[in-house]
Amino acid sequence: MSEQTIALVTGANKGIGFEIAAGLGALGWSVGVGARDDERRESAVEKLRSAGADAFGVPLDVTDDASVAAAARLIEERAGRLDVLVNNAAITGGMPQTPTTVDPGTMRATVETNVIGVIRVTNAMLPLLRRSASPRIVNMSSSVGSLTRQTAPGAETGPISAAYAPSKTFLNAVTVQYAKELSDTNILINAGCPGFCATDLNGFRGVRTPEQGAAIAIKLATLPDDGPTGGFFDDAGPIPW
Ligand SMILES: NC(=O)c1ccc[n+]([C@@H]2O[C@H](COP(=O)([O-])OP(=O)(O)OC[C@H]3O[C@@H](n4cnc5c(N)ncnc54)[C@H](OP(=O)(O)O)[C@@H]3O)[C@@H](O)[C@H]2O)c1
Repeated sequence: MSEQTIALVTGANKGIGFEIAAGLGALGWSVGVGARDDERRESAVEKLRSAGADAFGVPLDVTDDASVAAAARLIEERAGRLDVLVNNAAITGGMPQTPTTVDPGTMRATVETNVIGVIRVTNAMLPLLRRSASPRIVNMSSSVGSLTRQTAPGAETGPISAAYAPSKTFLNAVTVQYAKELSDTNILINAGCPGFCATDLNGFRGVRTPEQGAAIAIKLATLPDDGPTGGFFDDAGPIPW
């Protein structure tokens, strides 16, 4: 098996995921660019390779069992193990999204991608992660999933969101449960918030660059063996649940 660190980033064809892949590639890692659209994936891989990264394409729709299983097979055949999984792919479900009017289909689709998608990919990759000397799982969450922040008087909490913000609260809760189950292993799993970044997700209204947003994922992907697990962090440190 190669000594080169092997990572997979979901939703890596654009936005913060692309920059996470670029950042991990710049460390000399071999980076799987998980993306569901063939053209978008191949153009991202091409761009990363021209910048010197050892990137490879991984066809991956996080909502599709067969696609996720095939992605795990691809990585097993290519590398025999996985060191770092970054669960970055997500959707907002579309705005506005008020609890009193939200379509149940929007709720289902958002949870399917942002929560169940993470569980589906993580569980498919776990056998490969268990073969790593220092496995790391990073779940890209959002501070809008922090109930403490959502309920803090006068705090800037983003738009009312019936599906997206609660999906990140759900993801945070799931991250804690994984950390509990995996506490007697060498796997560190944490949630990270990139801050408000200009990407397709928010019509490019964010005030940070996707590259700045990628920094927390790269930090959590490169934690030392005695690093935290079951936490929720942004660039400034721990975020309250
Ligand atoms: N931008 C922000 O301000 C912000 C703030 C807090 C948290 N975040 C989180 O950061 C992460 C990245 O967001 P972003 O702003 O970079 O969003 P983005 O530009 O919209 O990118 C989202 C990525 O997820 C992919 N994706 C969506 N559904 C998928 C599926 N079923 N299977 C595989 N890939 C799928 C998209 O692929 P397609 O191109 O095929 O759609 C795209 O590559 C997300 O988890 C988001 O919730 C973002």
